[in-house]
Amino acid sequence: MRSIRIGLLGLGQIGSSLYKLVSRKAAFFQKRYGVQFKIARILVKNMRKKRFSGLDAKRLTSQASQILKDPSIDVVVELIGGVDSAKKYVLEALRSGKDVITANKALLAEKGEEISALAGKLGRQVFFEASVGGGIPVIKTIREGLGANRIDSILGIVNGTCNYILTQMSREGLDFQTALEQAQKKGFAEPDPSFDIDGIDSAHKIAVLARLAFEQNIPFRDVYCEGIRHITEQDINFAKNFGYCIKLLAIAKRDASGIDARVQPTLVPQDHILAKVDGSFNAILLDGDETGEILLYGRGAGPEPTASAVMSDLIDYSRGLESRFPEASKKPLKVKNISSILSRYYLRFSVLDQPGVLSKIAGILGKYNVSISDVIQSERKSGTVVPLILLTHHVHEKEIRSAVERIDAMKSMIRSKSRVIRIEA
Ligand SMILES: NC(=O)c1ccc[n+]([C@@H]2O[C@H](COP(=O)([O-])OP(=O)(O)OC[C@H]3O[C@@H](n4cnc5c(N)ncnc54)[C@H](OP(=O)(O)O)[C@@H]3O)[C@@H](O)[C@H]2O)c1
Repeated sequence: MRSIRIGLLGLGQIGSSLYKLVSRKAAFFQKRYGVQFKIARILVKNMRKKRFSGLDAKRLTSQASQILKDPSIDVVVELIGGVDSAKKYVLEALRSGKDVITANKALLAEKGEEISALAGKLGRQVFFEASVGGGIPVIKTIREGLGANRIDSILGIVNGTCNYILTQMSREGLDFQTALEQAQKKGFAEPDPSFDIDGIDSAHKIAVLARLAFEQNIPFRDVYCEGIRHITEQDINFAKNFGYCIKLLAIAKRDASGIDARVQPTLVPQDHILAKVDGSFNAILLDGDETGEILLYGRGAGPEPTASAVMSDLIDYSRGLESRFPEASKKPLKVKNISSILSRYYLRFSVLDQPGVLSKIAGILGKYNVSISDVIQSERKSGTVVPLILLTHHVHEKEIRSAVERIDAMKSMIRSKSRVIRIEA
């Protein structure tokens, strides 16, 4: 029986789950793949931390070199997270002649260029199925299942924390803070949720997917990123009135003029397939030129689904399959600045209810080529501050921004900063 010795970096949520999976299903893997997977050494930060029962503590080390320099280790699985130490260890593993498996989207999004260059030069493999979509096999789908396709569009709900919060706000009428606290109590949000709710996690993931699908370098700083902190229950209700829901979408599109890569709260029509993805679930909609649209749906995070994805990379490794974080195209496309995108918009103004307000706002919008498709002005009571909601036809972001800035400067009429949310349809 062939044996594969794994050097595991990190024994947190995913590392622990992988360790348990490798032990629990050892006989299954041997029978199905003819391979004995053995986690030979495990790097941790804190040797004194209490771990789970069944762990062979003799395998723990706090010295990375005991794994990276050990010639008996076949493959290194990086599950420590973060960028700096992870990058150092991954590059060292590649230089030591080891292939690498990682679940680290931050590392790939921010340092993928360096990693793919070194792996390419040394002829080493980098597997990364678990970096996007947890248990959803999106990397293999793009690379293998859709291998005959050109993919020009990816729309994803790739952060379960945000999707849970937005779903609860919509279903239960909760405000953002209450929904966030509920998510934290249920274990769907970290004590410090910034990475998730500010969209950074989704931005890392869409950068990885766009690079893979478009074979283009996507500098992470060029991915536009807007989170969901500012979404109110009022916005969710108005969106419903217009027939939309609000989702945090990760978007990557390509055309001859460049790449559009962004993360943003988005109004999605209620009959769109992504509108039906609720709670902590994730989904990724890929548009292949041969297949048409394909939706992948499932658990996008969590120890078991993610360890399952890491295990699938180990199985591919055991079969001698190749996997590279793709090197960028020799004909680079630029990532577009957000100001140049074309979209429809939801605009919410807080206006002092007085005669002529709507026509003044419509006049300014018209000057910037913004045409209105729908209006709601509810709760009218002269002299009070009321919300005025407008939906627009397609217009360039630059023009919307200039128009809204100009409207917001009219202090006698506008009482707080206006809200702008893009519409995807
Ligand atoms: N959690 C998820 O649902 C999920 C889903 C998909 C992908 N991922 C990715 O999977 C990776 C691991 O996530 P996780 O949730 O398992 O993280 P975690 O629970 O925070 O675990 C991190 C582990 O790495 C160790 N570690 C951290 N920094 C280290 C360093 N500098 N040197 C040595 N050991 C170090 C920690 O050691 P101690 O135990 O001693 O503190 C801990 O065992 C991340 O890249 C994450 O983005 C996670």
